[in-house]
Amino acid sequence: MTPWSVLLFLCVAGSHAMVYDTIVVGLGSAGTTAASTLAQAGKKVLALEAMDRVGGRVNTVPFGDGLVELGAEWIHGTANSRVYETAIANNIDVVNQTLNFQILMSDGSPADTKLLSELMDFATEVIDDPPPVPEPLGQYITRRVKERINEKYPQIANDTDFIESFLFFMDLVIDNLEASNSWNDLSTFSDYEELKGHQYASWHRYGYKTFFELMLNTYNNGPGYPNLDIALNKEVSRITWPRQPAEDAVVSCSDGSVYRARSVIVTVSLGVLKERRNTLFAQPLPSEKLTAIDKMSMGVIGKIILSFPTSWWNFTDIVSLFWTKSDRNGLGDDMWMASIPGITEPKGCRNCMTLWTAGDATRMVETLPEDVVKTKSMEILRRFMGRNTNIPEPTAMLRSSWYKNPFTRGSYTYDNLLTPQYPNAREDLGKPLLDSAGNPRVLFAGEATNPQHYSTVHGASETGYREAMRLLNISSKI
Ligand SMILES: Cc1cc2nc3c(=O)[nH]c(=O)nc-3n(C[C@H](O)[C@H](O)[C@H](O)COP(=O)(O)OP(=O)(O)OC[C@H]3O[C@@H](n4cnc5c(N)ncnc54)[C@H](O)[C@@H]3O)c2cc1C
Ligand SMILES: *[C@@H]1O[C@H](CO)[C@@H](O)[C@H](O)[C@H]1NC(C)=O
Ligand SMILES: *[C@@H]1O[C@H](CO)[C@@H](O)[C@H](O)[C@H]1NC(C)=O
Repeated sequence: MTPWSVLLFLCVAGSHAMVYDTIVVGLGSAGTTAASTLAQAGKKVLALEAMDRVGGRVNTVPFGDGLVELGAEWIHGTANSRVYETAIANNIDVVNQTLNFQILMSDGSPADTKLLSELMDFATEVIDDPPPVPEPLGQYITRRVKERINEKYPQIANDTDFIESFLFFMDLVIDNLEASNSWNDLSTFSDYEELKGHQYASWHRYGYKTFFELMLNTYNNGPGYPNLDIALNKEVSRITWPRQPAEDAVVSCSDGSVYRARSVIVTVSLGVLKERRNTLFAQPLPSEKLTAIDKMSMGVIGKIILSFPTSWWNFTDIVSLFWTKSDRNGLGDDMWMASIPGITEPKGCRNCMTLWTAGDATRMVETLPEDVVKTKSMEILRRFMGRNTNIPEPTAMLRSSWYKNPFTRGSYTYDNLLTPQYPNAREDLGKPLLDSAGNPRVLFAGEATNPQHYSTVHGASETGYREAMRLLNISSKI
């Protein structure tokens, strides 16, 4: 060995001397839950996060007179929710947001709210009454809605423009819930289960980030956990899967740093796995996991958030935007403007409003120039709400970029048309990679791996807890 290589060897050996119990890749809801659960149990944990912040698809940003959420906004269901329970246990009074909606028409005509809400309720309820043979959700809802109109509202049964506009609107509403690009990408077959209790609990002026601070013991300048090391701006580029019990797992980062641990918990999104499945893992993944990664779907929704000098509007919860067929056709190249199903008032900011986008329109908004998005958003507001109101210019605008972001590549997963054919895909995605002695060494968590509670923060947290407990149960047995 030349002196230089000896020196190099010493440096590398020195930086590698530490072998963590577990390395957690990603500090979203799943990773933060796993890391904090293991740290509280006394394990030596390293968490590597590619972004410059904790939270993943939760991103609370100071804005307007308070703060807004670019990602997850609500706690969906309170019963047995790890998120809700964390808030309550720490005396954080989350707000049960009511979602009364008002429907506005693109041509300024008064909406037939009674008819539209009855049809919307009906269209949503039939989802819980799926056909015996799975089919595309939009196709099924369309059939049921048309039957309903023929039976109950024969006077509009020949109004094909209205029916088409209603179905277009309903498609958007569902895409905005499910993150699908079209309601015909969704299957009528789904294992999703709602938690009981209020469905829209908001962290309001605390921000969803508080959930992470509470988990990491950093809320109100808490000291954190001494045996949990957190490294931000650390993009993991390669993970080895130790086949021999004595081997450690090796995690390499794009900045050249290398870390070792007995086990690794991978929490990156399905979108990231789809893109990096051949590079992120040093050994080929089992075929059932590759199949799950390929066959499952991750979609995207987005937000355009505007702040104003005053809160000039008078709706309380949601306005739904209903485009007539001819107004929609008049948009030409700006068709994406009709893919904004609604506007909400965020609970963390009094002078802000959020325009929600679905599917391809979201991808479009992420790439358009800033001033175009702002101008077009104002055009939408003035068209729907400006007839009797003088709408001021916005003071600032923020928009999400969950699709563009290389560390998320979308908003969350949904049950696509292949789900009935691959009913165990989420379980397969979440299965650990074992060593020759059968010990889990590379584990998988994240929203997508939750068979019933996917697409949510609480569901992601459950999977982080699941994988932490998998490791704790094993090590307590040894
Ligand atoms: C606009 C929007 C609105 C939503 N609304 C709600 C809502 O109201 N309620 C709700 O419950 N859910 C909502 N969701 C869904 C919810 O945010 C997600 O299901 C949940 O946060 C996912 O958590 P996770 O830990 O599985 O993944 P993530 O949050 O994606 O965490 C994974 C982490 O891994 C990191 N990472 C990725 N690649 C690497 C790498 N190579 N090296 C190191 N780190 C890496 C990422 O940066 C990220 O921080 C919403 C999502 C979006 C986008
Ligand atoms: C609707 O159209 C059908 C076929 O064109 C016609 O028989 C029916 O009377 C129409 N119904 C109404 C309510 O106009
Ligand atoms: C919100 O809803 C939950 C569950 O439905 C309930 O237990 C709780 O008391 C409500 N909170 C408030 C502040 O009303």
